[in-house]
Amino acid sequence: MKEKINQYLAEIEMFTAKSKEELEQFRIKYSGKKGILNDLFADFKNVAAEERREMGVLLNDLKGKMQQKLEALRESFEGEESASAPAQDLTLPVNFRDAGSRHPLMIIRNRMIEIFSRIGFTVAEGPEIEDDWHNFSALNFAPEHPARDMQDTFFIEKDPDIILRTHTSSVQVRVMEKTQPPIRMIFPGRVYRNEAISARAHCFFHQVEGLYVDKNVSFADLRQTMLYFAKEMFSADTRIRLRPSYFPFTEPSAEMDISCNLCGGKGCGFCKYTGWVEILGCGMVNPNVLKNCGIDPEVYSGFAFGMGIERITNLVFNVKDLRMFSENDVRFLQQFESAWQ
Ligand code: DAH
Repeated sequence: MKEKINQYLAEIEMFTAKSKEELEQFRIKYSGKKGILNDLFADFKNVAAEERREMGVLLNDLKGKMQQKLEALRESFEGEESASAPAQDLTLPVNFRDAGSRHPLMIIRNRMIEIFSRIGFTVAEGPEIEDDWHNFSALNFAPEHPARDMQDTFFIEKDPDIILRTHTSSVQVRVMEKTQPPIRMIFPGRVYRNEAISARAHCFFHQVEGLYVDKNVSFADLRQTMLYFAKEMFSADTRIRLRPSYFPFTEPSAEMDISCNLCGGKGCGFCKYTGWVEILGCGMVNPNVLKNCGIDPEVYSGFAFGMGIERITNLVFNVKDLRMFSENDVRFLQQFESAWQ
């Protein structure tokens, strides 16, 4: 019996089929009802007890080899069949993939970069995970300033404090520590605050920060730069107004309004009938900040500004609910690219 099995094993190994019919005959020969395997298993019953173990292993091996061969040859015929299938109709229209569109926040961000680059501002970025020094201390925030509060700031570690940056002003510090004036740069990026999510607030949003430090930079330069930006961003007849405000890192500080771009300043529901809408904070860089970053405030002065990209996008595209920016609903997202390149 052992000899027979070895002979069959050799036969199976050598076997090739030229057609599906030949393969079917091979299958019947070995595993058909009256096939070789059944015969052998019938003989197995008569095998002497001391040889049973060895024969059993051999028999199972034969069965396995034969099934493997069958499978392999079947697959090779299937492959051939699909290769000989009729060629595809190349005149049928292509299934176009949807191309996607740029996110409205990125459209506005790119537009801002373009507007400022025309008057010599270059772009830099900083980390979203910041330390206390760059986000607060170097920017002249007093140790007990409420913005450091757990309610506003996402803390990653305490003592020393590692946080998610609450504004892009931190990049001012990073740049001034490394670069001596003249500095004329903008810093776009994402910022985080621990706020309950609603139509008007989110736990993350985006800002563009601006910084101009050189000899003899004045408040008049700030005002003119902001007016240029407002006209380029919204429309040539846009007016601006600066209201006194407070930020620890600028002195004097101001908040800037533009004439309402919906009613042209006449007063409407959107601007609460004031004719003005607030868009950014700005001011002259506080001498303490320059000192903290290794820049001599006796020689240099500068202005800075910071604005929310969501805010500007809302004004340009009239989006009413902040949450739409991060819901990833293509019906919302695809409306903007063609509206304004
Ligand atoms: N960092 C401020 C904020 O997030 C915005 C800001 C105000 C930035 C005045 C400035 C500035 O650079 O001068 O609310």
